[in-house]
Amino acid sequence: MVRTLDSTERIGVVGAGTMGSGIAQVAAQAGYDVVMRDVETEFVESGFETIEDSLDRFVSKEKLSEADADAALDRIEGTTDLADLADCDVVVEAAVEDMEIKQDIFADLDEAVPEDVVLATNTSTLSITTIASVTDREAQIVGLHFMNPVPVMKGVEVVVGEKTDEAVAEFAHALAEDLGKETWESDDKPGFVTNRILMPWINEGIRAYDEGVASKADIDKGMKLGTNVPMGPLELADHIGLDICLDASETLHEELGDRYKPAYLLKRKVDAGDLGKKTGTGFYEY
Ligand code: 3HC
Repeated sequence: MVRTLDSTERIGVVGAGTMGSGIAQVAAQAGYDVVMRDVETEFVESGFETIEDSLDRFVSKEKLSEADADAALDRIEGTTDLADLADCDVVVEAAVEDMEIKQDIFADLDEAVPEDVVLATNTSTLSITTIASVTDREAQIVGLHFMNPVPVMKGVEVVVGEKTDEAVAEFAHALAEDLGKETWESDDKPGFVTNRILMPWINEGIRAYDEGVASKADIDKGMKLGTNVPMGPLELADHIGLDICLDASETLHEELGDRYKPAYLLKRKVDAGDLGKKTGTGFYEY
């Protein structure tokens, strides 16, 4: 039997960077005890600083009381020792986007954490199935892809690997919802739903700038005001981190090749006369 939400009180987080500290924060704010682990004490301390800043922002906006912010912070324990995750009911890994590093972490977690515990990864583009393959609990490995900034963004993508058990996927949805998020599900295909679509958009924004289509400010303004997104591609790339965008783009390029031709399905639907709202049928029915 795998642990369920009913038996979940303590959440382990591997990685205290932007995503890991954000996940630790939302878990603590939702009332869970949290163990946040990183490889160096200074990374753990920096994770706590990020959490304190974020909680302060909520307090100053009167979205959170000072007492609740303090209580959330008190629920988070920091460590550099992976063995301290042994009494967690679920672990979410949010280390760097490097397959070898993630596989090492999952192999270690597989040893350190009881066998009925679900191990989730916050990977943005890497294969859940490949990460899971180094463990003896492949059915209990699932993707839990949070969005940056984690404390503010409402969405979490649940990624189902080749061997992920259905009950484990359901647990991942339920856990994310209990952290105050809304979920959707993706198969374990490169970039999942979000980054598969977002990264070409960001890269096209960068190319448009590089090829002199418009100034940086006008590209961002055009996409913001023209399509009602909160950030244009260049400012969003800056927000996510250009290194993270490059890593994700390289993985997508390696796995999917040239994605810039018009989509085959787009041509097929136009040939069929399914032009969208105006004909009553596009990708949806109207
Ligand atoms: N902690 C707590 N609160 C925060 C916060 C944080 N870290 N960051 C922002 N906030 C709050 C502020 O208090 C503010 O609240 P208010 O609306 O009540 O005033 C609100 O969020 C907006 O903050 P700001 O006014 O400082 O800034 P913006 O209005 O520019 O909003 C933003 C910031 C929420 C980041 C918004 O610009 C946004 O939604 N941008 C798009 C972010 C996005 O697309 N993220 C997903 C990236 S893809 C990803 O993460 C996947 C990965 O795999 C690459």
